[in-house]
Amino acid sequence: MTQLHLWLRHETRTTERRTPIVPSDAARLVADGVTLTVEESPQRVFPVEEYEAVGCRVAAAGSWVSAPKEAVIVGLKELPDEPTRLTHRHIFFGHAYKGQPGAEALLRRFVTGGGLLLDLEYLVDDDGRRLAAFGYWAGYMGAALAVLHHRGALDAPLQPTTKEAVEARLRASEGELTALVIGALGRCGRGARVALLEAGIEPTCWDLAETRDLDRRALLDHELMVNTVLTTTPVPPFLTDKDLDEPDRRLRTLADVTVDVGSPMNVLPVYDTTTGWDHPVRRLRERPVLDLIAIDNLPSLLPEEASNDFSAALVLQLLDFGVTGPWGRCLDRFTDACQELGMAERKFDHD
Ligand SMILES: NC(=O)c1ccc[n+]([C@@H]2O[C@H](COP(=O)([O-])OP(=O)(O)OC[C@H]3O[C@@H](n4cnc5c(N)ncnc54)[C@H](O)[C@@H]3O)[C@@H](O)[C@H]2O)c1
Repeated sequence: MTQLHLWLRHETRTTERRTPIVPSDAARLVADGVTLTVEESPQRVFPVEEYEAVGCRVAAAGSWVSAPKEAVIVGLKELPDEPTRLTHRHIFFGHAYKGQPGAEALLRRFVTGGGLLLDLEYLVDDDGRRLAAFGYWAGYMGAALAVLHHRGALDAPLQPTTKEAVEARLRASEGELTALVIGALGRCGRGARVALLEAGIEPTCWDLAETRDLDRRALLDHELMVNTVLTTTPVPPFLTDKDLDEPDRRLRTLADVTVDVGSPMNVLPVYDTTTGWDHPVRRLRERPVLDLIAIDNLPSLLPEEASNDFSAALVLQLLDFGVTGPWGRCLDRFTDACQELGMAERKFDHD
């Protein structure tokens, strides 16, 4: 069997400091006989020297375009616009299977180049559960920002930070408050609960069982709410404009970690634009006040912790890289997506 050659690319987005493979996991791959080339990247949270020290090869940022054909290119977020034809196998979050803007164009680049997209969102086990995800730290950060804002201790613009720094700020902030986490049993939900506990808050936890017959009054009686639900079928909204206008509403801070804006699955159709690092909070109502935090790249605020967690899960799959099991499912998803758009992908041939 040909030896696996992974090529960890530099991320194009300047604010993206995360990486899907951290140096300690790079060492595991190298020890297993994998060739791992790591591109130089000024913003990656781990310096390239740490990869070099464990036996990785080093290459210039963006040089994956001329990598050997058999190399599997690994990244997190979007590819640069060039080259127009993608000839390699790529592992990253393509966001290309739900009709997103640019989805068809991206798939066409693969089809015309003869390359393949192995989308990390579709790397799932036999029961369809995601094998590598960033949810925990998204939930942690979403809840932490909400508490800090509620207590008047949130500074903007937001900057990438560490768990220790966030924890210290949570512990130093003060103020009694009641909090609710919906989707509490999921990855984001667990992270949100931990952040709230670190802030000295014992949250009410709801998941599927508790929202089946939604008690809106109870929901509105919490001062802070964190939504971390992942639903694949439309459900009645948890909040409507009418609820926001309730004069005796106690809810003051809403953190939407799910951020399903514009989707038919949106359980919080009370706003239509996300917030961001420069302006993390938007006021939705003045009387009584209701402030929203709806940031769609929360894990990037904790690049080291988020990378460590994600990499620990991904490396297990990379050690078992192949064309069956989870990677086979990724490949099937790519094939289906291309066919749905009337594009027939070519059989990948690296020889
Ligand atoms: N904002 C960000 O930066 C960011 C980062 C990562 C993930 N996310 C998003 O956060 C969401 C959650 O991700 P996750 O990894 O935690 O998913 P998950 O599958 O681990 O957890 C989702 C939870 O929601 C619960 N749930 C589903 N429908 C529900 C309902 N009607 N009522 C109550 N609970 C319900 C599930 O039972 C599960 O416990 C996803 O939409 C994901 O895309 C956002």
